Amino acid sequence: MQAPSHIDQHDRIMQLIEQHQHLPGALLPLLHAIQQTFGYIPPSAVPAIAESLALSRAEVHGVISFYHGFRSQPCGRNVLQVCCAEACQARGSRQLVDHTRQRLGVDFHQTTADGEITLEPVYCLGNCATGPSVRIGDRILGRVDPAAMDRLLDDLTREPLRFKSQPLPPETSDNKREAQ
Ligand code: FES
Repeated sequence: MQAPSHIDQHDRIMQLIEQHQHLPGALLPLLHAIQQTFGYIPPSAVPAIAESLALSRAEVHGVISFYHGFRSQPCGRNVLQVCCAEACQARGSRQLVDHTRQRLGVDFHQTTADGEITLEPVYCLGNCATGPSVRIGDRILGRVDPAAMDRLLDDLTREPLRFKSQPLPPETSDNKREAQ
């Protein structure tokens, strides 16, 4: 998918503001809509959001940084969340977090250099009985120890390679013409 240009992005943000600004308690639904559209909330959107809702930029920024679910930077192809709430901590999530940070070479809210994985904390996935729990995309996995995390990360990093190694379609006179 091609990244939107800054002009497209600005226009889309203004459309979303128009659609949400008259809702009661408009800020959260608007932020969710922007994040759903772009995968994150571009910092350049904050002044327009603040102005449209008669808030200060600091108030908008405060809400974005208060909720762990909002991102201010684009995320990687996969978002890996590790549960850091109490029940998972009692089952070893701190060690799992340390292992995962070390393995990926990133901290929470950062993305690996190849753009594949963004690491995030999460506070309860409703899977407390089988912690430590992690979520990758919309899959929730339980009893994830460091070895299981290694297998998961191996799978994630192998998938794009499989995709990249798909053979090219045979060259036809049609696609030769398109390439010219
Ligand atoms: S505390 Fe981790 S899933 Fe509930």
